[in-house]
Amino acid sequence: HKQVKRICCIGAGYVGGPTCAVIANKAPHIHVDVVDLNEKRISAWKSDHLPIYEPGLVEMTVLPRDGSPDRPPNLFFTTDVKASITKADLIFLCVATPTKYTGIGSGRAADLVYIESATRMIAEAATSDKIVVEKSTVPCKTAASIREILSAVGKPDVHFDILSNPEFLAEGTAIRNLEQPDRLLIGSLTTDRGLRAAASLVDVYAEWVPRERIVTMHLWSSEMAKLAANALLAQRISSINALSAICESTGADIDEVAYAVGLDKRIGPKMLKSSVGFGGSCFRKDVLNLVYIAQTLHLPEVATYWEQVVEMNEYQKQRFSKRIVSCLYTTLTDKRVALLGFAYKKDTGDTRESAAISIVNSLVAEKADVRIYDPKVDADAIWMELQWTSPNFADTQKRVTVCKTAYEACEDAHAAVIATEWDEFNNKDTEVHIREVNGLAVIGRSPSSYSTGSGMQFSNGTLETSPAPKNGHRVIGTASAADGGHLQDGLSMTPTPTS
Ligand code: NAI
Repeated sequence: HKQVKRICCIGAGYVGGPTCAVIANKAPHIHVDVVDLNEKRISAWKSDHLPIYEPGLVEMTVLPRDGSPDRPPNLFFTTDVKASITKADLIFLCVATPTKYTGIGSGRAADLVYIESATRMIAEAATSDKIVVEKSTVPCKTAASIREILSAVGKPDVHFDILSNPEFLAEGTAIRNLEQPDRLLIGSLTTDRGLRAAASLVDVYAEWVPRERIVTMHLWSSEMAKLAANALLAQRISSINALSAICESTGADIDEVAYAVGLDKRIGPKMLKSSVGFGGSCFRKDVLNLVYIAQTLHLPEVATYWEQVVEMNEYQKQRFSKRIVSCLYTTLTDKRVALLGFAYKKDTGDTRESAAISIVNSLVAEKADVRIYDPKVDADAIWMELQWTSPNFADTQKRVTVCKTAYEACEDAHAAVIATEWDEFNNKDTEVHIREVNGLAVIGRSPSSYSTGSGMQFSNGTLETSPAPKNGHRVIGTASAADGGHLQDGLSMTPTPTS
């Protein structure tokens, strides 16, 4: 089989950028181009301000500056898509596959417009044989459409082999996931050519991943495995959140329940954190994509089953917003609420589908004044997200302030909501300081994973303070969204509060 010397990755996003940074570092003999049509994004990758925040990424790309001795000499970012395709042996498709929002399958089906346009670019630019690898998450059998387009548009003497190599990284831990993946999945046809192409890609990863973790299988299974993995992860979060509603009404503690069930080896402790709901660009879209696939295959019971995972997530977000209102004596009018965290989970600047967005929109609808602070999401990104999602953006502009520190956000607040589990909010010092500012206690994800400080304890899911907070201020417990398999790492799973 062929040795891969040049890789072109189409799509310099949350997946393409970190994946190629790791490949370039681990396989110094491979020339890696990351290409994108978005010039702003490419110049950001070349600058000191990378377009995405991911722990360890700056060190990995070591600020890819042209001519800089720090830069991995084999990693390049460019908008010259065609030239890079022409020279590559292997091409990763890392473009977005968002949910369609108009037309057939609107609100559920995956929009494959970027996959198709990138595929056509490959077909037009390729003058020699290429291995084309789907890294984007795609519906089962997308590789067949890619093959048809490539053979219809490509030059007659050029051969394309198509592989599926879905990405399992979780934002916030992407570099660790890429360096030490639980498994790498490569799907191919079982023809000689297909197996040879798969072997070429196995060699790339085998530079740093133990061979036994590189799993090969049929194309369709590999495509399906990614959707299945995200559906099962999202389902665990919805399951624990559904149980949390019962716990809050009965006096059971969902964290204790999760701890108890997680000790069962068949269940395991991960992805069992009750929260305000999952966010991120993947879970919702991939589960809905699965729902759509089931519907088109005339499997309505299967579709309804998975649809509930998304519905439960919406319910949890609404339930949380209602809880804020009831904690504050059923009216939020002109009350100041600090919202700590806007990213969909800690250690990322990504706000796509963040539960914080729904919380802000419902707080504004209740006429609260909302003061947002997030350590890694800047004001522009927050405003852009709110502009897209606010039912009444003029109102939002009047009521929302983006703050530079947690203290500024909490000043004179009637309540604080921790929407993202950033470590800086899960910190006794911060908590004490914020309480000094305004007599308001700030609490984090849950009673068991977060120290609530002296004189405070949870009861039936509500935090009670002793002595009572000043000015009738109330404290609202919250938790953050989760997407990805490693969120539980580092969190205390003991049933009693620890400091
Ligand atoms: P993204 O939106 O951050 O990046 C996609 C990039 O592709 C954009 O910069 C866009 O300009 C570029 N693009 C689109 N069409 C192009 C074309 N024809 N030529 C060149 N560039 C083009 O998306 P992200 O988050 O990186 O996701 C990519 C895929 O990976 C999706 O299918 C997603 O479901 C999947 N995935 C995402 C994960 C995540 O944590 N974000 C994790 C695992 C899989």
